[in-house]
Amino acid sequence: MARRTKIYEGKAKIMYEGPEPGTIVQYFKDDATAFNAEKKAVIEGKGVLNNRLSEYFMTGLNLVGVPTHFIRRLNMREQLVRSCEIIPLEVIVRNFAAGSLSKRLGIEEGTQLPRPIVEYCYKDDALGDPLVSEEHIAAFGWASPQDMDDVLSLALRVNDFLTGVMYGVGIRVVDFKIEIGRVYDGDFQRLIVADEISPDSCRLWDIETGQKLDKDVFRRDLGSLTDAYSEVARRLGVMPKNTQVTKPTLIN
Ligand code: TMP
Repeated sequence: MARRTKIYEGKAKIMYEGPEPGTIVQYFKDDATAFNAEKKAVIEGKGVLNNRLSEYFMTGLNLVGVPTHFIRRLNMREQLVRSCEIIPLEVIVRNFAAGSLSKRLGIEEGTQLPRPIVEYCYKDDALGDPLVSEEHIAAFGWASPQDMDDVLSLALRVNDFLTGVMYGVGIRVVDFKIEIGRVYDGDFQRLIVADEISPDSCRLWDIETGQKLDKDVFRRDLGSLTDAYSEVARRLGVMPKNTQVTKPTLIN
């Protein structure tokens, strides 16, 4: 069989040319990075969990009318997605203060924000994804003001969906990051949610105990990352109970 064409390899995923024009195969790696890849590890099983969880969230978004790039899951580590032009922004939505917002503004982690706050970072690893304003985005032509109206609306719709779904399983969505892509249907351009939605790109805290169930477990050395992600998957009912490879067992 011919080798697949790799389009791009990022820190946590690889994109291959898809089987039909306009499609891409998105492969989830086990690599974990933090602090702009200063901290790195391979965490067995992370890719499988994120593939499943991103499928779960993107499928739900598609079903409630928020367009995403997701087409279907192909196997344990791969999903078929619609090819799109990624707007070079990390779109961050925050419901509670944490991480860089807490640091920047001196707000204690966990403080509820008066309303969801949407921030934009320019996607550039060499610069460490700096925070930018809509002025920068328009002036440098990364997206038009009309695009940004749609980006904001998509971000808030994703927030409503995610916070509701996760509330149902006892998890608080503190904040998350999404990426938005452009697709063309004939002469018309549309924006869709792309990349991934997984515990790598969200802060998820248990509502009762405050336990962290996201990549902060890795960033801050708080325990097993796969245990945390498996707990999210278990609560959402998206993982088979036993994901370990075991010896065959006799069924009586
Ligand atoms: P921050 O508090 O570090 O700015 O992160 C805000 C949210 O965005 C958090 O849920 C983690 C997510 N995020 C990413 O997915 N990728 C990144 O490169 C960064 C910095 C944050």
